[in-house]
Amino acid sequence: MSESQIYFNPWDPEFRANPYPHYGPILNGPPKIIELFGSAALIARYADVCAVLKDQQRFSSVDPITPEVRNEGVFRGAPTMLDSDPPVHTRLRRLVARDFTPRRIRDLEPRIRAIATELLDSAARKGELEVMSDLANALPVMVIAEMLGVPPAEYARFKHWSDVVIGGGNALPGQPIPPEVKAAGDELRAYFSIEIEKRRARPGSDLVSALVAAHQDSEALTAEELLAFVVLLLLAGNETTTNLIGNGMLALSRNPEQMNLLRRDPALMPRAIEEILRFDGPVQSTTRISTEAVSIGGTSIPAGTLCFVVLAAANRDPAQFSEPEKFDITREPRDHVAFGEGIHFCIGAPLARLEGAIAIGETLRRFPALHIKLPGGPLKYKGSYFLRGLESLTMMIA
Ligand code: HEM
Repeated sequence: MSESQIYFNPWDPEFRANPYPHYGPILNGPPKIIELFGSAALIARYADVCAVLKDQQRFSSVDPITPEVRNEGVFRGAPTMLDSDPPVHTRLRRLVARDFTPRRIRDLEPRIRAIATELLDSAARKGELEVMSDLANALPVMVIAEMLGVPPAEYARFKHWSDVVIGGGNALPGQPIPPEVKAAGDELRAYFSIEIEKRRARPGSDLVSALVAAHQDSEALTAEELLAFVVLLLLAGNETTTNLIGNGMLALSRNPEQMNLLRRDPALMPRAIEEILRFDGPVQSTTRISTEAVSIGGTSIPAGTLCFVVLAAANRDPAQFSEPEKFDITREPRDHVAFGEGIHFCIGAPLARLEGAIAIGETLRRFPALHIKLPGGPLKYKGSYFLRGLESLTMMIA
């Protein structure tokens, strides 16, 4: 494709079905400015993506949506880590940073393994594995529910609310929030408002209790921020990790020699997880708004421009990764940007890596003859470009 064939439209179902062929042209040369609901910059090359994400002063994370839309949203206008800049971001992130360190997360390993085993046991009885509904959809939400101190058995409700709220993110920019999305957000908030009150009366050792304490003791968190925080933790870790497991099982199934390699040498798992994240990351793109006129990679970006920071394109930049289109779990690690970069680098990365490794590792161990059952038509993806993941992925276990 030549530069004139640049096409980038997250709201086009065909583009969403397979964005990868469209990344070559945007990786070729300096960032492009396109017209898409106004001017937008496409930041795709690895070096440009890192430059933007490390420059939080000139590239803001604060969502430019109108106050009316923001106040209707699931966070009701309260800032969260993800959509704030320093100093608000620094204050919020500090509150949970120690709960997500690799060390703290390692303590969760036995519990995550037990949940994965339980889910795979149920699938084994059926004779085939529906990777998404049997395993990938449930595991991350059950784990985060436990961390928040709410019963994992209620995970189906969280998953439903989370799916509807995240699905609302696909609405065209500037559109009002659809009523069903607002309703799901209201239910989720109502549920956690009650949980917060319970923790006030009887604190436990969970994350909600820790945040309640931050609210009460040091006023480090307003009541609205507290609720938004809990909701963000539930949403951010869910769909992403689900899609790491699904996209990973798909990449391994399409490359059976890589799957066999991993079976023979499970010590390759950490590398395999990084390669899955690089090759078909759950977060295709994030966004920033330029706060002043700025030049990136040779392109002048005016103040107030919406910038698509296309993480999944950067992860296929030939200037950073040799043979980027090849899925190779033995690849020498070169930092990918699937978890972002800079101050907003994913706080849940250690948890996602552990869940991904356990889910995929246990699946391969449990089912030695696993192979993909191709659907009659093309594989179906869920509706979001920004969060890329399969609707279903069926595998035969014998
Ligand atoms: C494979 C799974 C995951 C992927 C690919 C992923 C990806 C990302 C990315 C790209 C960002 C940065 C966004 C930006 O800079 O605009 C981010 C931030 C974040 N992630 Fe994840 N994530 C994953 C799992 C999780 C999990 C399990 C949790 C927690 C339970 C989590 C919680 C967060 C939070 C709270 C932020 C905001 C951090 C900040 O702004 O300082 N994520 N994630």
